[in-house]
Formats: sequence, C-alpha cells, structure tokens
Amino acid sequence: MTDLKKFISHAKEYGFVFPSSEIYDGLSAVYDYAQNGVALKKNIRDYWWKSMVQLHSNIVGIDASIFMHPTTWKASGHVDAFNDPLIDNKDSKKRYRADVLVEDYCAKIENKMDKEITKAAKRFGEAFNPEEFKTTNPRVVGYQEKINTILKRLGQSLEKEDLVDVRNLIEELEIACPESGSRNWTDVKQFNLMFGTKLGASAESAMDLYLRPETAQGIFVNFLNVQKTGRMKIPFGIAQTGKAFRNEIVARQFIFRMREFEQMEMQFFIPPGTQKEWYDQWKQTRLNWHLSLGMGAENYRFHDHEKLAHYADAAADIEFKFPFGFKELEGIHSRTDFDLKSHEEFSGKKLQYFDPELNENYVPYVVETSVGLDRMFLAVFSWALREETLEDGSTRTLLKLPAILAPTKVAILPLVKKDGLPELAKQLMDDLKWNHAVAYDEKDAVGRRYRRQDALGTPYCITIDHQTLEDRTVTIRDRDSMKQERIALDAVGGILNEKLDIKNWLKNI
Ligand code: GAP
Repeated sequence: MTDLKKFISHAKEYGFVFPSSEIYDGLSAVYDYAQNGVALKKNIRDYWWKSMVQLHSNIVGIDASIFMHPTTWKASGHVDAFNDPLIDNKDSKKRYRADVLVEDYCAKIENKMDKEITKAAKRFGEAFNPEEFKTTNPRVVGYQEKINTILKRLGQSLEKEDLVDVRNLIEELEIACPESGSRNWTDVKQFNLMFGTKLGASAESAMDLYLRPETAQGIFVNFLNVQKTGRMKIPFGIAQTGKAFRNEIVARQFIFRMREFEQMEMQFFIPPGTQKEWYDQWKQTRLNWHLSLGMGAENYRFHDHEKLAHYADAAADIEFKFPFGFKELEGIHSRTDFDLKSHEEFSGKKLQYFDPELNENYVPYVVETSVGLDRMFLAVFSWALREETLEDGSTRTLLKLPAILAPTKVAILPLVKKDGLPELAKQLMDDLKWNHAVAYDEKDAVGRRYRRQDALGTPYCITIDHQTLEDRTVTIRDRDSMKQERIALDAVGGILNEKLDIKNWLKNI
C-alpha cells in the first residue's frame, strides 16, 4: 500500500474522512468529514482562530457570504487572471497542469538528493553534517542547481505568460505522461478555475454568479464597515474561515487539492511603505504557529515565490513535508493596495482610512496569511499516523495527533462491565465532559480498547478498576509512551486541564 492509500484507508476506517456521495461512487476531489474528522477539523480551526483573533486585540473576525456581487471578481482580477496552465497528453487524453508536471520533475530530483544525503549520513555516522554536505558534495550541489534553474525558468515563463516556453521546457526535460509514458503533448492553454452558478428564479432574470475562489474578497469589501463599526486603528486585521471553491483540473492527493475546501485567512491592513516589515513578521508568526504543534521544525520550510500573483509584491509559502514531498501548506502574501484600490475603482466607493497620526487619508496596504484547513488536516493526519513495533515484537497503529487537536481527549474505560465499575466510569465521564471531549468504552479486553484509542489519536485513557472502589484511584495512560500512572480519581480533571490548556501550547508563538 502506498503511503497515501494508507492514510485514505485509515481516515475512512476510523471515521475521519469519507469520499463524498460514496454510494454513487463518489465525486472526484470532493470529500466529507466524518464524526472524528469533523472534530479534528474544528479543533484546528479553533486553534487558528484563538491564535489570530482571541490573542490579538487588533484582529477581529467576520463571516462573509460565499455568494458575492459578480463585479467583485472582475475587480479582484479573478475573472481575467485566475487561470491554470493546462496541457493534454494526446495519447492518454489526460489533462495536467503544466507547472505541476515540471514541479513533479523537480521533486524527483529532490528525492535523489535526499537519497544521497541519507547514504552519506550512514557512511559518516555521528560526524555527518548535512548542511555542509549539501553545499560541498558535487552531485548534490549539481542536483540543487538543476532544480533552481528549472524552477527559475518556469517562474519567469509563467510570469510573462509565455506558455510556448512552458511547453518547450516540458519537451526539453523529456517529461512523459505519468499515465501513458508518452511525450505527445498539446500546446499549453489557460483555464479559469472559478465555478459559475446562477442567482434568481427564471432563466431570463437570473444573474451569473461565481462561487468564491478565496475568502479574502469578503474581507476586502467589508474593510471600511469593520474599520468604522469596530473603531479599528491601523495596523489591524480581519480574520475569516470559510469555504472556497476551485475547479481544479489536477485534483488528486486526497484532500490536498480539493474542488470545495476551507480557508483560514487574515488580511492585515497597514500603512503604505511598511509592508516589508509586516510581511517578515507575519511569515515568522505563522511559522511559529505551525511549530507550536510539535510536528518537527525539519518538516517545514519557506518557499519564496518567483512568480507573483497579480496582486502581490512579495509572496512565500510555508511548505510542509507531506507524504508526497514538500508542498505548500500556507501562503503569506504582501498584497499591496491592489484589492482595495481596485474595489474603489469598480464600485465607485472610497475605501480609505483616515490616519489621525498622519492627518491624511490613504488606501491601506495589506499583508495576508492564508492557510487551507483541509491541507492543515492532511499535514497533521499524515504526520501523526504511524506503525510502531513494540518491545515484545507486536505492532500498533498510532495516530500521534497533537493532544490539543485530538478529536477525543480522554477515553474512560471500566476494566470490566460489572461490580459497579461502569457506573463509576460514567460518573467520571459526566464530570469531565464539561471541559473535554470524552469517550466511554466498555467493550472488549482493555488492551484492545487502548489500541483502538491509539488509532483514533486519543491522547489519554483513564481506567477504572477494582482498586478504584477501594481507594478512589485510577490509572491514566499516555498514548505515546504507553506508560500508566496511578493517580487520585479527583485529580483527573486538574491534570487534563493542565495538559490541554491552550495557553501552554500557544504561549511561545
Ligand atoms: N487569498 C489567497 C489565496 O487564496 P492561495 O495560495 O491560492 O491564496 C491559500 O490559497 C491556501 O489555500 C493554500 O496555501 C492552501 O493551503 C489552500 N488551498 C488552495 N487551493 C486549495 C485546494 N484546491 N484544495 C485545498 N486547499 C487549497
């Protein structure tokens, strides 16, 4: 089973993610979140919201509609410029994103580089310095130079909309169709990614609308409403989470690239000329947010954009090491005053801020942070899922979710289904459920119940046994270390509150 298949199958078996409308054989790149998935997703969303809105007195939230006036998308540039470069293989009749074909080619070179580094690490043992090796080993340096040259040329061709050169690059690199192995390609063409729909009862009076391809525009058009009613002073931010829709052509890799997905975006409004400093600051703050989850600094990296979107003067991705390699998880964009100015132009309404300190009106600049909630889900889920071999040679499936994000925080397990143990366990559950997501399980041997909770990512199990009846103590089992400790029944709530206190997770960001 490939890695990705393993994640898809675990997500289904344990009630995290189901294919959409599965009884009708599903719908490509559309997924439903199941009972545990929806809780994990909500916890990620809450973790983001708290860090952005609750912890920043100058950031407020909104929830704008998915439908927006169609002129919004003319003004934002999406009608004219929200395109992907597509190429068809004439033999397999499969359609690809031309830029993704080239990026995948580079990912293969990167894999070769990784193999060289792993081999060298084995050869040199403890003395191995990977950073030095990467900059001095001729083969690795050569691979890196090749990647840089290819990506630079791709970026420049896309920037200039030189689609002929993108095709030439695919030919020169001898990239073959992954399906047919053939190199019989069409020209590269642009394809708009927005979904159209209609508003209105009759065909004649209906108005053409788009499903929003990003949540950001709902923030821009509300900028002055929020600024005035919230008496916000620049610099300030507006945050929003919500669905976005894109008619992705290469929709694959499970929930990495979906046609209906959720974004968590924040627009930070700043005085013109200060964008560089805020851009650097938000890059770091957002990286720190990711690092606070404890999934390993080595799994993140920045990728500064060569090709800038039509609205940006600087942009970077925070990339995460997904099972299929380093890929974009979040975008940080310095969007200048492009959007607000353009909405002023198209609407004829002023979208300016009066700065009392400078005693002047201006259109603010914007630094945006934008992370896909589903992509964040995949990052957390794929990092967390692992097979472990235990000391006795047996194996267990472990979903090592950061405890703050786990769908169920604690499972209460009576050792046996009699002698008053279930009653005591249910009392404890009633006590804890006010503050934590609690599960109760009395079926099967306790060892099997532990394994099931491990696979669901539940960080703690509390077992009620006969000793509990005598001295009101229970065992608390830690999912990762599998260590069990005997503690007072009355101490359980306090211990969980401490371990799951969001302050302890977010205080260093
Ligand atoms: N408002 C800026 C914006 O939308 P983007 O880089 O196109 O920028 C931001 O998207 C984030 O949204 C990405 O980093 C990714 O996490 C997520 N995203 C974009 N397209 C997606 C898709 N088709 N499926 C899942 N997530 C997606």
